[in-house]
Amino acid sequence: MHIVFISTSDDPHEWATLLQPHVPGLKLHPWPTIPDPALIEAALVWRPPAGVLNQFPHLKLIQNLGMGVDYLFEDPHLPAVPVARLVDDTLIGQMSEYVALETLRFHRRSADYEQFQQERRWRPLPAPDTRRCTVGILGLGAIGLDTARKLSALGFPVIGWSRSPKTVAGVECLHGAAALPAFLARCRVLVCLLPLTAETENIINAATLAQLPPGAYLINCARGRHVVEADLLAALDSGHLAGATLDVFRTEPLPVEHPFWTHPKIRITPHSAGLTTAWSAAAQVAENLRRVQAGVPPLNQIDRTRGY
Ligand code: NDP
Ligand code: OXD
Repeated sequence: MHIVFISTSDDPHEWATLLQPHVPGLKLHPWPTIPDPALIEAALVWRPPAGVLNQFPHLKLIQNLGMGVDYLFEDPHLPAVPVARLVDDTLIGQMSEYVALETLRFHRRSADYEQFQQERRWRPLPAPDTRRCTVGILGLGAIGLDTARKLSALGFPVIGWSRSPKTVAGVECLHGAAALPAFLARCRVLVCLLPLTAETENIINAATLAQLPPGAYLINCARGRHVVEADLLAALDSGHLAGATLDVFRTEPLPVEHPFWTHPKIRITPHSAGLTTAWSAAAQVAENLRRVQAGVPPLNQIDRTRGY
């Protein structure tokens, strides 16, 4: 089986070594060195350049090497073959740890204590009340659910918002656009874990930020295009929002002159909240390659009409 590998952030040799024992006859070709495009049956990709996937006339599967597929759907020439994404426990665990870390940093006022240490000041702050710090999670999918579980276990009241109705033990679940204002009004910490679609783009804007209670904190580790940047800066500068942790940006890498870098209320990480690890994700990719050979639909196939 011939496979094309298109990614600048994953190692094709590592992937070939992990996949070959499970997929007899596998030949993995790092793009653009392809012997014959007509031989290619599957593509393993992370952010492939637009138009490239259209060059393989016998392609049967596009396997995304990350969890979010929005980048793929920006390609106007994306072939009409099944697209599968990774749903990987290691990556999910990294993401929920990141949200737990940033929630606790805000809740336990780590920035203040770091400042006090700089000033050699011995100043205990009032005791935090975790039971009154509601965390609202936009998106109760693979990552949102794991995040909700971890934060609930830490004692935070957790509410979640999704497209369709859900029942999750210990989490109050709301759904649909009509429920969003009431959801936002309760969030001391708002976490964005939505996929980027036409419906969710720019969802964090002046109107939705205004619906948060004063002093709320934002954590966005989904996609930069969920946030209207000027509106976020205005909410921080007016004092309505206490701060924000951002892992994803409209332009990545974040340009050096961008005001987010130096804003005193913004914490930045370089799209590293969750990173794909081949050793953990290879088994499901091997399974999808076997499925393609057997003519069976892949695991974790994207619903193109929903866009996620
Ligand atoms: P899933 O596809 O598993 O879940 C998406 C959730 O969002 C679902 O609960 C879905 O509702 C909900 N949703 C989708 N559209 C809407 C809408 N219009 N209104 C309300 N709810 C909606 O996503 P993942 O958990 O896998 O990923 C979450 C995000 O994290 C993605 O943006 C992904 O790209 C990003 N990500 C970021 C990484 C990083 O390092 N920063 C790493 C990995 C992922 P329903 O359940 O009803 O379908
Ligand atoms: C992903 C990501 O979607 O890294 O996996 O953002």
